Amino acid sequence: MIILGIETSCDETAASICKDGKILSNFIYSQVKTHAKFGGVVPEIASREHIKKIAVVVQNALKQAHLDLKKIDAIAVTHGPGLIGSLVVGVSFAKSLSYSLNIPLITINHIEGHLLSAMIDSNLNFPFIGLVVSGGHTSIFKCTGLSKYKLLGLTIDDAAGEAYDKAAKLLGLPYPGGALIDKLAKNGNKKKYNFPIALKEKDNLNFSFSGLKTQIAYFVKEHKPSKKDIPNIAASFQEAVVDALTRKTLFAIKQTRMNKLAVAGGVARNSRLREKMEELAKENGIKCYFPKAEYCTDNAAMIAFAGWKHLSTRYGVRSTGYDFDAISNLKLTQ
Ligand code: KG4
Ligand code: ZN
Repeated sequence: MIILGIETSCDETAASICKDGKILSNFIYSQVKTHAKFGGVVPEIASREHIKKIAVVVQNALKQAHLDLKKIDAIAVTHGPGLIGSLVVGVSFAKSLSYSLNIPLITINHIEGHLLSAMIDSNLNFPFIGLVVSGGHTSIFKCTGLSKYKLLGLTIDDAAGEAYDKAAKLLGLPYPGGALIDKLAKNGNKKKYNFPIALKEKDNLNFSFSGLKTQIAYFVKEHKPSKKDIPNIAASFQEAVVDALTRKTLFAIKQTRMNKLAVAGGVARNSRLREKMEELAKENGIKCYFPKAEYCTDNAAMIAFAGWKHLSTRYGVRSTGYDFDAISNLKLTQ
């Protein structure tokens, strides 16, 4: 079964081909440079960029996979959550294509895409604890099967990636700053500053990162740190974020007695988070799965793969696929 995946929920226009669970191509046009001068994603610009690029991005994904459109069996597209103008571009494009090719269309929840991305090229299977950490989301799920994701905790304010990007901005670093903080932190002393984190109690699986951002803002205002001190601040900030993420993940594992953990989303690229999660896994006798770096930040491979998972297990398959919202999945229960 060959699936074309399309993802346009934020500022990446992406398309991918998945054949029987294997990713044949993963093409991403990132708008990051366009938005960098504004210090964040501008929704109106994002939608217009998607319109300009979507056709050529799909063509490139097909070309990379050495396939033409006639070989596609079904289309999977992100239907949410995300920026509405951006989502409409991908969904409308996918819907028209499925109608003209007379092939099924399945809509995929972006968070489910991230959760399942850890299954690509790995032996991860259900059940597992899934932590999604990205620019827009920070949530922990108990994942027991396709479409069976129980929300255990989530951020009550900023997402972890958002905290990274805001802290980077306060430190005078370019947008998006997550990867740069990760890099700078390697040469910094993570114990130099103590930036405490909120919601430390055991029975609470929610996160809060906005106070941390405020601490960085006050710190910068008060101390006017030198360029030499930036790596220390980056490392100390990162330690606080990673500590919050690993602490809550451990609570979730203990509470649910799961023995597998998947960490996905843009922040799952973070080297310190990977290190700490591996340590946690070792200490608690569980297995930890991270997607490959290219499947962490927004991409269509995870959408094509999720589409393949659903269609190949006959979940929500329809003989004619253009009624897109009828096959929407992901039930979030609290
Ligand atoms: O998953 P993603 O592409 O977008 C959303 O779905 O939100 O994640 C983007 C986020 C950005 O906030 C970016 O700063 C962060 O992932 N990020 C990182 C790293 N690489 C990307 N954060 C920390 N360390 C990294 N190495
Ligand atoms: Zn995402």
